[in-house]
Amino acid sequence: MQIAETIIPAFVNGSKQLFIGGKWQPAVSGKEFDAINPANGKLLARIAHGDAADIDLAVKAARRAFEGEWSRWTPYDRQKLLLRIHDLVQKHFDELALIETLDMGAPITRTRALKDWISQVILFFASQTAAGGTETPRNSLPGQMMTMTHRAPLGVVGGIIPWNAPLISQWWTLGPTLATGCTAVLKPAEDASLSTLRLAELLVEAGLPDGVFNVVTGFGNGAGGALAAHEDVDKVAFTGSVETARKIIAASASNIKRLQLELGGKSPDIVFADADLDIAVPGAAMGVFGNSGQICVAGSRLFVQRGIHEEFVERLTQFSQTLRVGDGLDPAVQLGPLISEKQLERVLKYVGVGREEGARLSQGGNRLGGELAPGYFVEPTVFSGVHNEMTIAREEIFGPVISVIPFDTIDDALRLANDTKYGLAGGVWTRSASTAHRVSQGIKAGTVWVNCYLPLDPNVGFGGYKMSGYGWKGSSEHVESYLYRKAVYMNIA
Ligand code: NAI
Ligand code: MG
Repeated sequence: MQIAETIIPAFVNGSKQLFIGGKWQPAVSGKEFDAINPANGKLLARIAHGDAADIDLAVKAARRAFEGEWSRWTPYDRQKLLLRIHDLVQKHFDELALIETLDMGAPITRTRALKDWISQVILFFASQTAAGGTETPRNSLPGQMMTMTHRAPLGVVGGIIPWNAPLISQWWTLGPTLATGCTAVLKPAEDASLSTLRLAELLVEAGLPDGVFNVVTGFGNGAGGALAAHEDVDKVAFTGSVETARKIIAASASNIKRLQLELGGKSPDIVFADADLDIAVPGAAMGVFGNSGQICVAGSRLFVQRGIHEEFVERLTQFSQTLRVGDGLDPAVQLGPLISEKQLERVLKYVGVGREEGARLSQGGNRLGGELAPGYFVEPTVFSGVHNEMTIAREEIFGPVISVIPFDTIDDALRLANDTKYGLAGGVWTRSASTAHRVSQGIKAGTVWVNCYLPLDPNVGFGGYKMSGYGWKGSSEHVESYLYRKAVYMNIA
């Protein structure tokens, strides 16, 4: 495509190496794999194919850094580093957004719009560097006993992140690592590693000490599995599928490492008949279609009160037809491609299953052809008259597919909403404060939005319940989870 060829940043080119101990180096095996632009299937760059040997080098570098000079950095030193990184990330944000769009397909308007949000995330972690100080709780022990509880950095953290928003996900490991004085090895997803590698260059420019943050690119069952199982890693922070989380939990048994898991969802978004449909229709639609449905919190089970079900489906269908799908480099595009051929096949398979199980396909459902044929594009898709027992209402599709499910009463809505193995998020659209309150209390999930969907503040944080995982991201709780506690009993008699 014309625009792509004229504006590709110089960074997206040639071979990209691993970032270990502050140095760029090829994989021990010398192997590489392709970084592909999902909008056209074309090669962007070659990426070092890291494996267990590279993970071991990176963990050793992270351990050395943890024990070294970095351990003597004061909270204010680390805060200043984070603020320098903040300024560099802001300065280079257009380039980072462009790299992300090329590598994982999200529209440029979407990746550019992350600028303020990522600024807030970095500023939040910069504000936390002196958090978790010493407390002096009272005790009832005989004699002159003083008791203190300290918090100390956990050590080496392994970050394993997915491809749907690496520009954000990388910060959920990097932020708390730098805030607390831990060190980290990050394994980006094989489908979207480039923005993390560019970030590593900016970290060097900001003065990051060698080994504090390392990036090993590679595949899940190679580099990912080796990081999850490594005996000198103290904690693994993972975002991705339940299936992979099970392997990570099993691997954590090697040294009883701590885990933070943010997994998928099948989040309920509930529209009551009294809702303002002018905001509910686009809000609920983009709560799934944004990022082409590749959103962990996607409100993909859309419960609509029976009285407005037909009208709602019609308006949702009309809205979906206005969405512009295409190469995300075009600023008019609202929906980009799916990440890969594999994800495209997965999503189309679910569309087929939905039809077979008797759901009504009200809109979309097809791969887009013509000039979009070389990319992995699917139309925004709406199924209506869906039952909560159908496969498309139970399994995470991770594509632009909404299942509209009718309901009658609040009690019905809550029963159906909670009849899922997941508990990541949910939403409710209503003009009634009482309905909003009851439903937000009743949904069993880590985040509930009322008359909106998707806004997140790093100071508030988010996390999963049930099979959506555990460990809160954002807020002081996230920082606390990178520290361990120690009590000291001091006999001062
Ligand atoms: P995945 O969970 O396999 O991949 C996520 C990350 O884990 C990647 O970096 C991958 O390399 C790594 N990984 C894979 N196998 C591993 C292993 N054995 N040990 C350690 N790390 C490993 O997810 P995938 O295959 O990319 O997508 C499959 C489905 O997972 C999606 O369709 C979606 O339903 C769900 N998913 C949910 C995400 C979320 O944000 N909650 C993000 C990505 C995927
Ligand atoms: Mg790619």
